[in-house]
Amino acid sequence: MSFAGMTVVVLGGSSGIGLATARGALTEEARVVITGRSQHRLDAAKRELGPDVVAVPLDAADEAGTRTLFERLEHVDHVFITAGAISFGRGLAPETTALRPALETRFWGAVYAAKYAAPKMKRGGSITLMSGTAAVRPLPGASVATASCGAVEAFARALALDLAPIRVNVIQPGLIDTPLIGELMGDRREAMIAQEAARLPVGRVGKPEDVADAVLFLMRNGYVTGITLTIDGGRLLL
Ligand SMILES: NC(=O)c1ccc[n+]([C@@H]2O[C@H](COP(=O)([O-])OP(=O)(O)OC[C@H]3O[C@@H](n4cnc5c(N)ncnc54)[C@H](OP(=O)(O)O)[C@@H]3O)[C@@H](O)[C@H]2O)c1
Repeated sequence: MSFAGMTVVVLGGSSGIGLATARGALTEEARVVITGRSQHRLDAAKRELGPDVVAVPLDAADEAGTRTLFERLEHVDHVFITAGAISFGRGLAPETTALRPALETRFWGAVYAAKYAAPKMKRGGSITLMSGTAAVRPLPGASVATASCGAVEAFARALALDLAPIRVNVIQPGLIDTPLIGELMGDRREAMIAQEAARLPVGRVGKPEDVADAVLFLMRNGYVTGITLTIDGGRLLL
């Protein structure tokens, strides 16, 4: 199925998994809208994706901005919310405010997007939220960020009933080699990627396109709703 004539919105579409999903949707002739906080990243994404992409600066935690974004769109067919803050090594940080962005973006960002996108959507449309395998196999020092993934998964199952026949699903990636990994790991990135690749059943870590392909499947397949789809190279088997 092509996405010709459809509007696909990717919140957090200027890098990594979101950018790969935007690229895939464009290839299938969708009208694509991407968002992100950094104008610089949006400009770079627009240069790569081409002039037809609409790039809007927006923080996923900004409810008023999210409302305005969707109000300006005539109709919406598929929404992918990938934006989500993650912080490792903080545990229950001394400053509680440092823990809040995880829920403010991944969870509340998903609530805002669903709330303002749904009125513009019709049967067959879909909303895809972003979790991670940490939701079921937590990594040390990221308890609140982990909880934001679990919250999104429970939210999606409930929302799939509330918004039906609009479909709501979650994508749950394992380790995917995106700019985020460089930001989190710094000069330990390469060693970590090699270590993970060596232990995964598939013998490599994920690429943004591996996840984008699954997101496009969730958008396309009209019989899939309320699921969490794991794309992890077998990480959860270990
Ligand atoms: N890579 C992995 O191994 C992995 C595994 C499991 C789950 N995930 C999740 O997948 C999602 C995407 O990660 P990625 O690896 O593709 O990272 P990435 O390459 O850093 O891309 C993240 C995208 O989201 C945008 N973004 C981040 N925070 C935002 C916010 N508050 N409001 C609006 N846009 C925001 C970024 O743009 P700006 O920075 O300019 O806002 C960028 O476009 C994240 O939620 C991450 O936790 C990733």
